Formats: sequence, C-alpha cells, structure tokens
Amino acid sequence: MIIKLAVCSRSINVDLGGNCTMPNIVFTKPDGSEHNVNVETGVTVMEAGRDAGLGVEGTCGGCLSCATCHVIVDTEWFSKTGAPGEDELDMLDLAFGLTQTSRLGCQIEISEKLDGLRVTIPEDI
Ligand code: FES
Repeated sequence: MIIKLAVCSRSINVDLGGNCTMPNIVFTKPDGSEHNVNVETGVTVMEAGRDAGLGVEGTCGGCLSCATCHVIVDTEWFSKTGAPGEDELDMLDLAFGLTQTSRLGCQIEISEKLDGLRVTIPEDI
C-alpha cells in the first residue's frame, strides 16, 4: 500500500515500509552518460536536470523565455509527455539541435505516469 503525502503542490509516495517511491527520470548527457534522478511529483524536467547539476540551465526559471531547458524526449515517451503548445513551439524555434520530440524541460511536469521518463540533453542548449 502506498500513501501519498502532499506538501504544497508537490507530493511524494511513501509505502508502508517508509520507503519513498518517487518518480525517476533518466537523463542522457551529450557525452552519452546516463543519470538517474528521483524527483517529487510536480517538479519539472528542467528543475530536476538543473538541480542535479546535469547542465540544464533553465535561465528564465521556467517562464518560457529562454529555451535553455531544451531536452529531447525519447520517442517512446513523447506521447506521454504530450506535444509542445504554441508558445513552447515558438521558443523551441530558438533552440539548437531541434528534433521531432524536442520539448522545453520547464514545460514537462513530472507525474507518476512519467516514472521512468527518458530524455537527452542536447549539446549547447
Ligand atoms: S527555463 Fe526558460 S524556457 Fe524553460
């Protein structure tokens, strides 16, 4: 049995053994190295990559005005994250290395359904 604890807009799952069951994101850096990051629900991919020191800048803090949080979502996960909206597409046009599954990390909020999400950090974001 899992109990959900909510703090502000974020929450973590704790099983009856007291173990956290936070969603996991797998980041692939430009050098090909993979990094597993566990995050609370409600955290964005940008915040997770930035706070883990993986080179995701997120200069504007998630205000859709910089594109320094550009990530490439694995094709098998793209349908779960959803396609970018119009404002996001406009900002993505400024990103380097754009692909069909590019997203701005600040616009992907982690939920339980995204546990295991795989994203690649492009070079020179
Ligand atoms: S952090 Fe600036 S657009 Fe995402």
